[in-house]
Amino acid sequence: MTNHHSWEAAEKLPRDGLISPVVNDSRARSRGRASRGTWLGRMAVLAGLYLVYTAAFKGHIFFEKTADASIVYHIGDVKWGPCTGEGEVEGAECGFAIVPLDYTDRDAGVAKIALGRYKSTSGNRKGSVFLNPGGPGSPGKWLATQMGPYVHMLLGEDYDVIGFDPRGIGETEPQTQCFPGPGTHFAFIANTVLEHGFDVGPNLTDPKIRDHLIHQQREADALWQTQMQVCEQTMGDKLRYMGTVNIARDIEFITSLLDGEGAPINYYGLSYGTVLGQFLVNMFPDRVGRVVLDGVVDAVDWTTLPAYKWGRHLQTSSETAYKRFMSACAEVGPLRCALAKKDNEDPDVIMSRVESFIEHLHFHPLAVPNATAPGILTSGRARLLLFAAIEAPELWSIAALALDMAMNGDGSAALDVQRASIHYDDLQRSAISCNDNTVLNAPTAEEVVDEHLWVLEHVTRFSLAGMVLETDFGCHHWPVTPPERFSGPWNHTLRNPILIVSNTADPITPLATGQLVNDRFGSSSRLLVQDSAGHCALAMPSLCMIGNMRAFFADGTLPEEGTVCPMDGSQFPDPDGPSMLSVEDKKRFESARRVAKAMLKK
Ligand SMILES: *[C@@H]1O[C@H](CO)[C@@H](O)[C@H](O)[C@H]1NC(C)=O
Ligand SMILES: *[C@@H]1O[C@H](CO)[C@@H](O)[C@H](O)[C@H]1NC(C)=O
Ligand SMILES: *[C@@H]1O[C@H](CO)[C@@H](O)[C@H](O)[C@H]1NC(C)=O
Repeated sequence: MTNHHSWEAAEKLPRDGLISPVVNDSRARSRGRASRGTWLGRMAVLAGLYLVYTAAFKGHIFFEKTADASIVYHIGDVKWGPCTGEGEVEGAECGFAIVPLDYTDRDAGVAKIALGRYKSTSGNRKGSVFLNPGGPGSPGKWLATQMGPYVHMLLGEDYDVIGFDPRGIGETEPQTQCFPGPGTHFAFIANTVLEHGFDVGPNLTDPKIRDHLIHQQREADALWQTQMQVCEQTMGDKLRYMGTVNIARDIEFITSLLDGEGAPINYYGLSYGTVLGQFLVNMFPDRVGRVVLDGVVDAVDWTTLPAYKWGRHLQTSSETAYKRFMSACAEVGPLRCALAKKDNEDPDVIMSRVESFIEHLHFHPLAVPNATAPGILTSGRARLLLFAAIEAPELWSIAALALDMAMNGDGSAALDVQRASIHYDDLQRSAISCNDNTVLNAPTAEEVVDEHLWVLEHVTRFSLAGMVLETDFGCHHWPVTPPERFSGPWNHTLRNPILIVSNTADPITPLATGQLVNDRFGSSSRLLVQDSAGHCALAMPSLCMIGNMRAFFADGTLPEEGTVCPMDGSQFPDPDGPSMLSVEDKKRFESARRVAKAMLKK
């Protein structure tokens, strides 16, 4: 929609109009992200206007000028229309809601939250269900507009599926855009430790290895500091409004707009989306309708510990997931898993070949002239590729092939797959995680490295890969303080119990965390376990899990305490899915896999 309209800056406002600080120019946006060359200049002009006008007025409106009319939107306005993007399903609607920029100060201006909707098709509409795909930093509008019918197969057809781009992200305004345009943030981190990962030597007790890690950590820290200073200069105060507290308030506010004042809040969140979910249900315990959290992160760790200390808890299943990958690889054999060299090979033998290769790369990085973007394959990058792969079983065949090619001297596929698995989205992710995290003292490089060495030795060899893949680090350099922080309690008694879903071999959100959060909620939650590897149960969906989610959304039915869902078919994803399914089951299974695959690409 923004493609057809222009959002006018302050000077076009009617005389009696109040001013919104959300001044923007989407003509630049509609020309595509590639043309923001003058972005800095424009920001300077707009910032100047903003200063002049906020001195004169404070306001609650958002001003839209189209070809034939000027429209003024107020807080609480919702607008729907057809979608104009690509890949949208029939019947999907696109729109936005105008919400307070700052819920503690309604005079601070407005935010425009981009929404997608796919309406209930059952004839028995029960409300709206909000979705969040995680990140943080991932847009979510597409979940309704591109995935609506498939999400219905997962959750049942009684709800309007609502996707939204959280604050700072996607089409929502204001947007977190610290660097001057597309590619510039990536250019900034390309070929640094933040892109190719940390090189960890094979002998963790060797002091030289520790020194080498400290050296890399100092570089990483200076890079975090630099990018956050860039962000302070370009975004300034606007960064304060991007955190999870405000995203939770947006969901509550928009639920009331769509379903009526005080209506129950329904929500389905994955990964970081479970942090948002814990904020949401604890901030609004009396509003909780049907809430499902899959792939659980502990909101207490998230808000109180610096990110470099999360691995102790978050990566306790990384090794289990790695072993599952290797044993599934051995099971399907060389035809589908190129790392296996013969049928029924011992999975430990396959793993030790991979580990020797990564060790070799530590001393001899591989030149990769034929990758889409030429580069080198370092041990850190190979570790990143492997970690991204164990998070996503859908990638197993291709990751095995890419690694096997690299082991035979051609690292081009490995480099390409690894780069595709990281999402560079400016600092949209930091803007959320750093606003959520309580102000922290800067740790020394030695403190950070010693923590990682401990995790490497006692928990998982993927410790530092987690740190590069999950870019929540460096928040001690974050330049702003949000208007509100939420610090619990995290165990409110909820109006309706929520459903927590964990799988047994999740390399980044382990079952143990699902159990912890479930225990904390007492009778206000129930845990459903699925026996599979990958990040979130949805990564490797089962009909049992889908059946339980549908029953829960239908009428609040909880699974029996202690329910463990088995996988359907092989842990190594079969391109055709499991055999012997009824037509309806096949549709459900394919729908869930389709949503999971789409999430991988976003
Ligand atoms: C690892 O390094 C320590 C300290 O330098 C050394 O004593 C030990 O022999 C090394 N271990 C191996 C397997 O090389
Ligand atoms: C890169 O491609 C060229 C041309 O196809 C080929 O000769 C060369 O062997 C390739 N290099 C590697 C390292 O794969
Ligand atoms: C919530 O947790 C706190 C601290 O662990 C505890 O004191 C309190 O009793 C718990 N509240 C409920 C409702 O379980």
